[in-house]
Amino acid sequence: MCGIIGIIGRETVAPRLVDALKRLEYRGYDSAGIATLENGQLDRRRAEGKLRNLEARLGEDPLPGTIGIGHTRWATHGVPNEANAHPHATARLAVVHNGIIENFRDLKADLAADGYTFESETDSEVVAVYVTRQMDRGLGARDAVSSTLKRLEGAFSLAFLFTGDETLLIGARRGSPLAIGEGRGEMFLGSDAIALSPFTDAVRYLEDGDWTVVTRDGAEIFDALDRPVERPIRRSVGKAFYVDKGNHRHFMQKEIYEQPEVLAHTLGSFVDMTTGRTRLPQGQVLDFSGVRRIAISACGTGYYAALVGRYYFERYARIACDLDVASEFRYRESPLADVDLALFVSQSGETADTLASLRYAKEQGLKTAAVVNVQESTIAREADVVFPTLAGPEIGVASTKAFTCQLIALAALAIRAGVDRGVIDGEGELELTKALAEAPRLVNAALHAEGAIELLARDMATHRHALFLGRGFSYPLAMEGALKLKEISYIHAEGYAAGELKHGPIALIDETMPVVVIAPHDRVFEKTVSNMQEVAARGGKIVLFTDESGAAAGAVKTTHSIVLPDMPEILTPIVYAVPLQLLAYHTAVQMGTDVDQPRNLAKSVTVE
Ligand code: AGP
Repeated sequence: MCGIIGIIGRETVAPRLVDALKRLEYRGYDSAGIATLENGQLDRRRAEGKLRNLEARLGEDPLPGTIGIGHTRWATHGVPNEANAHPHATARLAVVHNGIIENFRDLKADLAADGYTFESETDSEVVAVYVTRQMDRGLGARDAVSSTLKRLEGAFSLAFLFTGDETLLIGARRGSPLAIGEGRGEMFLGSDAIALSPFTDAVRYLEDGDWTVVTRDGAEIFDALDRPVERPIRRSVGKAFYVDKGNHRHFMQKEIYEQPEVLAHTLGSFVDMTTGRTRLPQGQVLDFSGVRRIAISACGTGYYAALVGRYYFERYARIACDLDVASEFRYRESPLADVDLALFVSQSGETADTLASLRYAKEQGLKTAAVVNVQESTIAREADVVFPTLAGPEIGVASTKAFTCQLIALAALAIRAGVDRGVIDGEGELELTKALAEAPRLVNAALHAEGAIELLARDMATHRHALFLGRGFSYPLAMEGALKLKEISYIHAEGYAAGELKHGPIALIDETMPVVVIAPHDRVFEKTVSNMQEVAARGGKIVLFTDESGAAAGAVKTTHSIVLPDMPEILTPIVYAVPLQLLAYHTAVQMGTDVDQPRNLAKSVTVE
């Protein structure tokens, strides 16, 4: 949700802080700021809006110093303006925060009763003032922070800088990620390996409750009871994280075009391409033969991938699946006695709702597995079994390549589960993995529809509402297509099971309502044709995504038709995702919105 960086080094720190914040901007971009110490004097520069505004401020008014902290914000409490931008500071210290302090109002009232004042509406500033009061009461920096942490409720990762002391930074983690980067004569704190990748690949991840005192010579780590603890150094692949757009206009378009390649990479870790047999990623062990029921949960696009996953597991492995959005899973308190596996799907591996659901499942004694794209993420570290998607860094806030990689991973796992459970024989396994191996080629073919879709997008951009319909494997795609469109073009869109249209939503149909129908010529095609006829009979504008067989059936007059190659049913969610992504992308371009960093959103939502 927000990005944090801290550096204690020997060279001017402000440019390095900004460089790291550029890598963290995907976590939020409502405002940004840094604070540094020079000759013990604390100073800040903060700016509303994108990081480039902070860079301009620093160009006009540079900050000296070799020790500092920085922050890029996705607003939770308080409008995104300069007063609410981090770092928050008092005369004694500055602090940056990711998360939500749930008891900040009580703490703020207690501090105000002692005469302390505030300049912002944020929960984060309360932390700065609380530590300050502890220091005013005679505690040193370490004790002031450790005693404050025990009073905070909620989720946080924090980095502190102290007036007059250029020898230390203090960091803390509870619920939101924080890592220590190991340098030579310099040390770092960051929200993730991506932030630290310009400086080091030697990273130690704090666990929940940990806090750390960082000097130029190293870091001491303490647990929630202030006992010294060790955390292992992991070699990060963060170096690969810094990507550029290549010859694409936006990261999102680049990532859409990376799908053939990353789908092949991901499939290769689940299928031995020489034998056609499914396998689990290296080092992972999970025998599905004893799995009768799976509880799956995720958020947003991950949830729609999980919805496809349910169709896959039930169709190919005959395993019943429960499905929840992660923010509901643990509050539903569903009986889990007959659940043999809790499965989570997440691109970032840091989504607070999904992480909380994973922890809830573990508390309930369930075996946990996660399909996750960021291998060093908290979910990847805490799940019992990890199924990596190899999509590479996904910078565009709207998830594209990670989604299709999640789908191909879930498809391969469902086949594997079917083999383990004896419902798929050797020949069936080969037939299905052979189909999956066609994904890169067919996705590439779908990309060739971009020109036609760009024309379609010009019409879509003239509307304020849209409906997306699909049946069976295409129903989750209708939901995902609607999410893609609304989150980057800001056009209101809803996805529905096509069969549901007549139970209410059909009242919305008239010539002003575009209806996008995803209808490969599969076992439910004729049923979907009936739904399209219901729409056409009421003057609705139909945009049809189908295949050659569906087009040949020519059942309904449409305003636009995008025709993809015929393909095995298992592939349709993966391949039909591409025209939906391109439709959302080009509509957003027409609308002039910020495609890679849409308003109000963040790439990783690390607060509940
Ligand atoms: C997808 O385009 C959105 N950016 C959002 O719904 C996202 O899928 C959701 O926040 C889950 O994120 P995760 O996959 O990183 O857990």
